[in-house]
Amino acid sequence: MSAINDAKKAAAHKAVNEYVKNGFKVGVGSGSTIVFAIDRLAERVHKEKLNIVCVPTSFQSRQLLIKNQLTVGELEIYPQLDVCIDGADEVDSNLNLIKGGGACLLEEKIVASCAKIFVIIADYTKNSEKLGDKYKKGIPIEVVPMAYKPVKQVIENRFGGDLELRMAIAKAGPVVTDNGNFILDWRNFKQDVDWDIINKDILQIPGVVESGLFIGMAQKVYFGLEDGTVKEQ
Ligand code: 5RP
Repeated sequence: MSAINDAKKAAAHKAVNEYVKNGFKVGVGSGSTIVFAIDRLAERVHKEKLNIVCVPTSFQSRQLLIKNQLTVGELEIYPQLDVCIDGADEVDSNLNLIKGGGACLLEEKIVASCAKIFVIIADYTKNSEKLGDKYKKGIPIEVVPMAYKPVKQVIENRFGGDLELRMAIAKAGPVVTDNGNFILDWRNFKQDVDWDIINKDILQIPGVVESGLFIGMAQKVYFGLEDGTVKEQ
């Protein structure tokens, strides 16, 4: 396995070992790091005979949970979760996050908001001082399809930078999220800003469904390092 996958695995295993207990309702994020967390969850559930309900944040994580014979729950039945474990595209020194590289930000934010503790698992490349230092693909903004152009113009005029409609592989058409929306990726934004204020402003723009700015939500971050150890923050 590559150093980066070793790092993802180390962070994921640590979070599942530390934060999942028998009887817990667990929010399960999306992405490549979460695959290692689901592997470890399955191992613990089957070996230790744990009674755990997992609430997925995407079609991807639902499929992985089913494949691993883990019990899948819904927020309709379990509106309060003990913990949510998820990956991130970038984590700043205040534990503010950029998420949504996999276009699952809407369900990820909803599920995380229902959890008592939100734990992030990430490899060392995601650890940054300021948002935008490391992650260059942009801050994702999920929008209702008919509003993508006006939202792009409002954000560019009000805050600067460039927003680009995320396209599917081979530019076959726009990426469509699990909830039928489009994604605008916001690049070249100013970094020395109050992200809490900007995020709240963006969420007020008609047509914006959610942003990939997760401000003040994460309580704990595990960064897997190149040597396979884990740094906590
Ligand atoms: C998906 C996400 C992912 O959690 C984020 O993109 C990190 O993914 P990975 O673990 O593959 O680096 O927000 O919408």
